[in-house]
Amino acid sequence: MFALPMLTSATAGTTEFKEAEISASGVSPKQAQSLAESGTIFVTVKRQAGPEAESYEEVFEVPYRPRMNVISVLMEIQRNPINQKGEKVAPVAWEQACLEEVCGSCTMRINGKVRQSCSGLIDRVAPLVNGSSRLRLEPMSKFPVVRDLCVDRSRMFENLQKIQGWIPIDGTYDLGPGPRMSQKQQELAYDFARCMSCGSCLEACPQVNEHSNFIGPAALGQVRLFNSHPTGKLNADERLEAITGNDGIASCGNAQNCVQVCPKEIPLTRAIAELHRDTTVYRVKKWLGM
Ligand code: SF4
Ligand code: FES
Repeated sequence: MFALPMLTSATAGTTEFKEAEISASGVSPKQAQSLAESGTIFVTVKRQAGPEAESYEEVFEVPYRPRMNVISVLMEIQRNPINQKGEKVAPVAWEQACLEEVCGSCTMRINGKVRQSCSGLIDRVAPLVNGSSRLRLEPMSKFPVVRDLCVDRSRMFENLQKIQGWIPIDGTYDLGPGPRMSQKQQELAYDFARCMSCGSCLEACPQVNEHSNFIGPAALGQVRLFNSHPTGKLNADERLEAITGNDGIASCGNAQNCVQVCPKEIPLTRAIAELHRDTTVYRVKKWLGM
């Protein structure tokens, strides 16, 4: 161990050091930086042993390391599942797969905001203040809890089934080349094709609640995607029919929270506005028997 007398309360917790003071103490800049950045993350996890179990909160203390993300904090707890009271407990359960914000499986509420835990850097989501930080992890509230931070996102995939979120080109015979898409069409499609069904937009939407089965912004974005595809257009009416019912587009309250939280910056409100027009045309045509 070595003392670091040159660290003042004003500089502690930062990476600013006076080089002369560091060399005088015999501490390398790397060691000094690591000491300055040492601290404790107080992690409160909303836990639930199973789908029917009561939820409760448990606090863990995790040593801070530079460039940690929420997943690495959870891994620390998994390695040493001892809570703040000193009790050895069951490790916290969470989901992860890609670790690069592509699969959506690690989505949870982090300090009250829904986001992916793999891209949630501690320095941004819960920065150290005077050597400690507070991190609160909760499962998404709009999906059934499976265990701890794992939720059942089946609803996302059932909604994709409802809107026929695919292009029916599979067959046992060669269908020949598909229609060509212009660069502009491809770019438009790419905006919507980035959806990873993470559920953040449903979590943030006030219209998705225990009193409604609103299909949600993600599925609406996919209707926009597949209905603008030259082959997908062949089933456009079926998709529009699927979103004209009570749980469809009419349930959108235009809160616009979805675009605020979507990690892929999908233009969901633009999709919803365009689908309002398309469903109106569809319903008028249907009424006229066209
Ligand atoms: S639209 Fe955005 S927030 Fe919603 S599920 Fe897709 S990626 Fe997630
Ligand atoms: S692990 Fe895939 S988005 Fe985080």
